[in-house]
Parts: sequence; C-alpha cells; structure tokens
Amino acid sequence: MAAVVLRELTKRFGKTSVIEGLDLEVRDKEFMVLVGPSGCGKSTALRMVAGLEEITGGTISIGDRVVNEVPPKDRDVAMVFQSYALYPHMTVRENLEFGLKIRKTPPAEIDRLVTEAAQILGIQELLLRKPKELSGGQRQRVALGRAIVRKPSVFLFDEPLSNLDAKLRVQMRAEIKKLQARLQVTSIYVTHDQVEAMTMGHRIAVLHAGTLQQVGTPLEVYERPANLFVAAFIGTPPMNFVEARVAGAGETLQAGSFALPVPARLRAALRGRDGARVVVGIRPENAVPAGRAPRGPCHRIDTTVEIAEPLGDEVVVHARAGEDALVFKQDPHRPAAIGSTLAVDLELDALHFFDAETQRRLGEDPPSGASP
Ligand SMILES: Nc1ncnc2c1ncn2[C@@H]1O[C@H](COP(=O)(O)OP(=O)(O)OP(=O)(O)O)[C@@H](O)[C@H]1O
Ligand SMILES: [Mg+2]
Repeated sequence: MAAVVLRELTKRFGKTSVIEGLDLEVRDKEFMVLVGPSGCGKSTALRMVAGLEEITGGTISIGDRVVNEVPPKDRDVAMVFQSYALYPHMTVRENLEFGLKIRKTPPAEIDRLVTEAAQILGIQELLLRKPKELSGGQRQRVALGRAIVRKPSVFLFDEPLSNLDAKLRVQMRAEIKKLQARLQVTSIYVTHDQVEAMTMGHRIAVLHAGTLQQVGTPLEVYERPANLFVAAFIGTPPMNFVEARVAGAGETLQAGSFALPVPARLRAALRGRDGARVVVGIRPENAVPAGRAPRGPCHRIDTTVEIAEPLGDEVVVHARAGEDALVFKQDPHRPAAIGSTLAVDLELDALHFFDAETQRRLGEDPPSGASP
C-alpha cells in the first residue's frame, strides 16, 4: 500500500511562493500526471516528495507514514530525471547495480534484479556499454532500469522524455505506461506536455502558478474543465473562446457576430444576469462544417476561411465569424479555400461556458448518459 498524500503543501523560496497549499491524493498503484506550463512548480513539488527539497509547510505521506522528516534514501521512492543522470564512467550494468550496492544488497540478489530489469526494458545487449555509446532512448531506458531495480513503493518521473525526439517520445510514452501497468507501482509523472498527460495518466492534476486547478481522469478534465486556464491548456488545437453577454432575460448569449440560446442547464445560473460577461468555449471538434454530421442540437453560423492547414487525415481551418476567431476541423476532401464562406454548426450540448470575471466554469452539466 503506497498512496502518496499531499496536504496543504507549501513551498517558498525566500519571499517567493512557488507552491500554494497543494492538496493531492495519489492512490495506491495509480499513475498520476502533474501537468502545467513551465515554471508552475511541478519539479519543485516532485522534489519535495522525493525529499530533495525542503518543504515550507504542510505534510507529505507515503504509504501510512508522514515523511516530512524522513531523508530521501529512506522514503522508498525512485526518481527518473529528464537528464538521465547516469554515471558516465560506469557501464550500463554498473549504473544499474550502483544503487543496490550502496544499499548493501547481496550480490546474487543484485544479479537477479539487474537481469530482470534489463529483460523488462530490452537492454540485455547493452549491459557492457558506457552511456556515451547509447542513443538518447537507450539512455533513458537505463535510467528507468535504475529506478526499477530498486523496487520502490513510488516512482517519480520529472519530464523523462523531454530530451528525446518526437517519434521516440511517443514510443517511450507507451513503454512507460506499459511498464507502470506491469509493475503496479504508484507513480507521479511530471510534464508540461498536455498530450503526454492525457495519454499516460490514470488521472491528471493541472497546476498553474503553484496552485492546483483541477484533478480528474483525462476525459473528465477534457470534457469539464473547471476554469478557463484548464480549458485553454488541455486539448489541441486548443478550445476556441468567444466573448458574449447575457441578454433576453437570461435566455440568450450575444457574441460579437452571433447569438446563442442559453442551454437549459445554464438557465438557473444566468437568470437575471443580463449584461454579465460569459466566455463561450468551443472545442474545434464541436464546430462542425456544414456537410459533416453534427451531434445533437446545433446553432449554425457563417465563417470566412483565413488559413487551412492540411494534416492528411483532416484540415485544421482558422476562420472568422465577424470579430470572433474560430478554429475547427474539416474533411480533407472538402474545399476550404481561403476567403471562402463556410457554414459551421456549433454543437450546443458540447459547448462550455465560463464566467468572464471569475474564470470558473458555469452551470452543472447533466450527469453523463442523462438527457439534457
Ligand atoms: N532554488 C530556487 N530558488 C528560487 N526560486 C526557485 C528555485 N527553484 C525553482 N524556483 C522557482 O520556482 C518556480 C517553479 O520552478 P519549477 O522548477 O518547480 O517549475 P516547473 O514547473 O518544473 O517548470 P519546467 O516545466 O520549466 O521544468 C519557478 O518560478 C522557479 O524560478
Ligand atoms: Mg521542471
């Protein structure tokens, strides 16, 4: 049993606050991804769990003990870094053995653990090489091996794939996911890459400026972003945002160039708030060019195509509806000529609404499966 629980975790460097009252529960055997833009405090949070960074306030528990005062080597965690941090003068085998020797593991046991890890990672052939004789992907595999042989209760990953090229990153992403599923070790994985977060995590925790924004499964966070920051951060191409004002006694949202009926689920939240500013969030896949089949009730608007980016299986179209910019996806075999007019259906049930002042998500969505 090795859940990791952070309570009111706080970190200041001098007067600068880097982590603000972070509450997070990582369940036993869970793969939790901590995601956020550069500088938001991800590495600092992870290093505090590892014991490499002192904490200013709060508690960290691993399993059933509070580890605030426990030195890093006794926390039973293994960390994998972006920089691999291999010893250059040692062979792969020696790198794998090193941590075990320090812990005075019996030689026969070391042999067994190293052989097992090398086999899991497919690096048996590389055991006699030095790190400089390895590719980036092979080095990262060795770094993973060094964490695996320790059989820790918790894996901590700090952007372990950032030094790899795009293709290898996708491959290693899948390998780490498989590895975690196989070893069933509680893991916290830090990344600034929202695609990595979405594809790898059982749950993801979105961090912004040292403050936790939302925790949930990738799908929960994608479908119900808690605020404008999360909505903009998760998803590619990113969600479109259109400013609107409440009108018609809370029944209409008036954007620059079009008006939308307020969906039933939002009526209570917007009643009597005529004039209030609302941000309408439209995922590119929920703005469906006429001719493709939209889902559910729609509101049709006319757009003018500004840019079309062919990706092979689809075309990403940047268009304009009056003042409002809109990005959506078009069938590659349908024309989206620059300057042409394209009617687009906005899927009303899939739109997101945010209070422009508080930036928070508005209204309660119907529980999934229920009719609106
Ligand atoms: N030793 C330190 N002294 C002062 N400020 C620090 C120190 N270490 C980190 N910081 C600051 O704390 C903030 C968070 O840093 P951290 O390294 O945790 O960010 P991050 O989310 O991991 O970013 P990245 O994605 O770039 O790795 C940054 O603003 C950074 O400048
Ligand atoms: Mg970092």
